Amino acid sequence: MDLREIMEMDSKYYMNTFGPRTPVCFEYGKGIHLYGSDGRRYCDMLGGIAVNVLGHGHPALVDAISSQAQKLIHCSSLYYIESQAKLAKMLAGVSCADRIFFSNSGAEANEGAIKLARIYFKKKGMPDKFGIITLKRSFHGRTLATVAATGQEKYQKPFTPLMPGFRHVMMNDLEALEAAIDDETCAVMMELVQGESGVHLLDAEYVQAVRKLCDEKGLLLIFDEIQTGIGRTGKLFAYEHYGVEPDIFTLAKALAGGVPIGALCAKEFVAQAFEPGDHGSTFGGNPLACSAGLAVLKTILDDDLLSNADTMGSYFRGELAKLSEKHSIIGEIRGLGLMIGIQLAQDKAIELKNRLFEKGFLVGSVGTSIIRMLPPLIITKDDIDAFIKVLDEELASQ
Ligand SMILES: Cc1ncc(COP(=O)(O)O)c(C=O)c1O
Repeated sequence: MDLREIMEMDSKYYMNTFGPRTPVCFEYGKGIHLYGSDGRRYCDMLGGIAVNVLGHGHPALVDAISSQAQKLIHCSSLYYIESQAKLAKMLAGVSCADRIFFSNSGAEANEGAIKLARIYFKKKGMPDKFGIITLKRSFHGRTLATVAATGQEKYQKPFTPLMPGFRHVMMNDLEALEAAIDDETCAVMMELVQGESGVHLLDAEYVQAVRKLCDEKGLLLIFDEIQTGIGRTGKLFAYEHYGVEPDIFTLAKALAGGVPIGALCAKEFVAQAFEPGDHGSTFGGNPLACSAGLAVLKTILDDDLLSNADTMGSYFRGELAKLSEKHSIIGEIRGLGLMIGIQLAQDKAIELKNRLFEKGFLVGSVGTSIIRMLPPLIITKDDIDAFIKVLDEELASQ
């Protein structure tokens, strides 16, 4: 089928939630590159929105999925699943969590976190503690509870009345957070680097003070590491940069390198609040997704992709900083590891994204003035140099 036919079919039969998409259909990928049905090669600086950490077609992931698919794809969590137990053990071993529950997406993992926080206080005999404070500009998902948790009106307005219990405060403002806490509050939930709204970093002192405040007030601290987790920031989990451990954290996106999975991770004292019947999932933690997760985690650790994310992230931001001296349209460069945002001084993000696409580079845009990049952790200096050269040319010819 050619692209025009696919576009026509899509516009007739698919729900119009994405609007007009970038006009390409990818046929396959290898490493950091995607190959379109137009015969062109694209350098993927967006990594499926922080998902394809190993790039495309990585042999370790492809082998794990194919050999597991030949044996068993799904059997339900009514039975013991070897790869589920192994992935839970591996995640607990490399993180501050003691127990894990697998879902199929980030929003579902966050739903699980919200449920776990509520049930924890219910089982402690405090049923009126159900409120969760999250941050303005945050993004926690598209389900009704996670839309209410998300601190952006545009995602909430069409779906009111919202699920009760959520309050939103500005990031890095401890006083505002303290003022929002009342007798009903049970938890604080935050992204350490807000991704979807344009790569905004929390301050370390703020996060440390939030931890202290939660301890003093007896509140649970939840980190949404759906975008920041699994090496994206140069450490396996972003909380490692902050010297702070959450009571609960959530993962998804990169965890199985593209096979849908989410993970709710918690310390023992809170995890024990979930008892048989309190939570569940048909697909969550199935043999296929967990085998993929094992292959991704093992490859990231064995190939030291954390160091690569750290050094390539610094190099990338350094090269962008050099460009900003030449091109005044670059306002600010934000980021941690390979989570990178370019704040433009003009509303030209969409135009620039489209021009980069024409030149064979995929980036994301946030609103009209932010370019976002979340490349695979396997990215090399040559990939970055090639991108910087084209970006330089495009900015010069504005
Ligand atoms: C921080 C964060 N939380 C939650 C989600 C929702 O994840 P999903 O789209 O897998 O439901 C996202 C997705 O972009 C995210 O970035």
